[in-house]
Amino acid sequence: MRAARFVPAIAVATLLIVVSAQSASAFHSGGVAACSGCHTMHVSQDGRVGMHWTPGGNPYLLKYGNATDTCVRCHYFRGEFSNGNGYGPGGDFYWLTRTFTWTTAWGTTESSSGASHGHNVANRVFGVTADPVLTHAPGGDFLSSSLGCTSCHDPHGNANFRMLYDSTLGPAYVGDTRYAFTADAPLATGNAGTTLVGGGNNETDARHTVYKDGVDEWCANCHPAMHETGGSRFTHPTGVMLGSAIADNYNRYVSTDNPDGGQPTTSYAGLVPFEAVQIDLATINAASATAGPGADDEVMCLTCHRAHASPFADAGRWDFAATYLARDSHPQAGDAGASAQDVANSYYGRSFGANQRSLCNKCHAKDYADEPLVAQHSKPRDEWPDDPSGTGQGR
Ligand code: HEC
Ligand code: HEC
Ligand code: HEC
Ligand code: HEC
Ligand code: HEC
Ligand code: HEC
Repeated sequence: MRAARFVPAIAVATLLIVVSAQSASAFHSGGVAACSGCHTMHVSQDGRVGMHWTPGGNPYLLKYGNATDTCVRCHYFRGEFSNGNGYGPGGDFYWLTRTFTWTTAWGTTESSSGASHGHNVANRVFGVTADPVLTHAPGGDFLSSSLGCTSCHDPHGNANFRMLYDSTLGPAYVGDTRYAFTADAPLATGNAGTTLVGGGNNETDARHTVYKDGVDEWCANCHPAMHETGGSRFTHPTGVMLGSAIADNYNRYVSTDNPDGGQPTTSYAGLVPFEAVQIDLATINAASATAGPGADDEVMCLTCHRAHASPFADAGRWDFAATYLARDSHPQAGDAGASAQDVANSYYGRSFGANQRSLCNKCHAKDYADEPLVAQHSKPRDEWPDDPSGTGQGR
């Protein structure tokens, strides 16, 4: 594909310029950055006319094809479009360009399509197009054809967490309209900057976004019907308290093999975050936030999803279709479309034991026949239920 060969060339050139300038001051500075970072008035500088100019011109006098192209020109080496090496809380949009295909044990071909891996922010730099399956936001009406970085982030900055749009001004939409947001930006703090693996701002179980409140309502600006309102119980509860039993499971759960060994002070899992409603955002150290939840903390959209994209369908933080994460998650060694680096990056460098099941169990502890696995181990072998996978791996 042409775009794929074209990208490494700019990647190298721009990387050289920007890495050397990395210690220089921040760009957005929490407000409007230098206009010329994103706009061009005459498409001419130093007598070189037409640099980056799209035939017919770019909308809004932007320097590159569209708003997303303009953002991506700086952000592709900061973790937002970085070959899967972006270990940011939001996730790396690179996964939108990767489709993984494999043959199951019973001979059928399955795949996990790039477009299903998250929010398809259309841009020319990486050849991303609008989602071919979802024409609008599920549970809402925001058109996929209008979705880009500036559907969520205000390019001219504001004081909100990550410059996210709020109820005072919604994002630019079709034509010259704006899409109205009813809910304000979430209250949160945490790691951003360059979130590449090994870059010092990558997400780990200790360093991550600390979410306090408002994620569900904010996502529901575009996905209103996905948000449980009035206790309808037809969608997974969000913005509801964990309660003491679920908080206790979370704190004790280390893995399928060790569902009881955890401590509340160190039990936080970066792959299964929650809203810490009592936290003081002004004093919390988000670079070392290892404490698990209390009973009044809440499950929310980003407990299970990434805000940008992930290697898995539905922007899952883990592969929702896997029984055993190590054996069944895709990308997997041998999948068409998956490199070894993709596999290593898929869980931000983590690996799991052979018995590890879905991370829903961090809260629900239903690893094996409605019980934690070790509860089975403590029984005589002939009282174990049959292993549903037939592989013996469940034991
Ligand atoms: C980080 C990139 C970025 C920077 C910096 C930036 N803009 Fe923009 N601007 C955009 C994008 C993208 C749009 C297109 C609308 C959208 O997607 O929100 C836009 C649209 C506009 C518009 C038309 C729509 C509107 O919001 O009124 C004006 C006027 C504008 N910018 C002026 C400015 C000025 C003046 C500055 C400097 C003080 C500036 N911009 C800095 C990215 C930027
Ligand atoms: C000229 C390069 C450049 C462009 C163009 C650019 N950014 Fe950035 N962006 C940066 C840098 C550098 C940082 C990290 C420091 C900072 O926050 O300014 C950053 C940080 C951010 C952050 C995190 C802010 C935080 O809370 O720490 C967001 C969100 C963001 N950019 C969105 C955008 C969007 C959306 C666009 C396109 C409209 C865009 N950027 C265009 C350079 C750029
Ligand atoms: C500005 C509107 C907007 C906001 C805000 C928004 N989304 Fe979306 N979302 C969309 C659109 C449009 C689609 C369908 C197009 C696509 O998937 O690329 C979508 C698709 C999705 C998908 C399915 C992805 C796929 O391809 O299967 C998930 C999951 C999702 N959103 C979760 C979230 C979460 C979680 C939040 C809050 C952090 C959120 N969204 C905020 C507009 C939005
Ligand atoms: C559907 C809404 C949505 C879209 C589209 C979106 N973002 Fe974000 N972005 C978010 C949210 C929400 C966060 C906070 C994620 C968290 O902390 O869990 C975020 C976080 C970030 C950060 C901080 C680092 C990180 O990984 O958390 C940067 C930088 C950023 N976005 C840039 C971009 C750029 C560039 C684009 C387009 C290529 C983009 N975003 C598109 C919602 C969005
Ligand atoms: C407990 C985990 C969990 C929570 C919390 C959660 N989701 Fe999901 N979400 C999933 C799973 C799993 C799927 C895959 C489809 C399914 O199981 O229905 C999914 C699918 C989706 C889709 C894609 C639907 C489609 O038609 O393709 C969207 C959009 C979405 N979720 C948005 C949200 C939003 C917005 C929130 C918060 C209000 C949220 N989710 C909270 C687990 C969760
Ligand atoms: C951060 C903790 C957390 C995670 C992770 C989590 N849940 Fe839940 N789940 C909850 C809470 C809290 C409730 C509400 C409990 C209550 O009302 O008693 C709940 C309720 C449920 C219910 C009952 C809903 C009803 O209407 O009765 C089901 C089913 C469920 N979760 C499945 C899942 C699945 C499947 C996953 C993984 C995709 C998952 N959960 C991940 C916290 C979580």
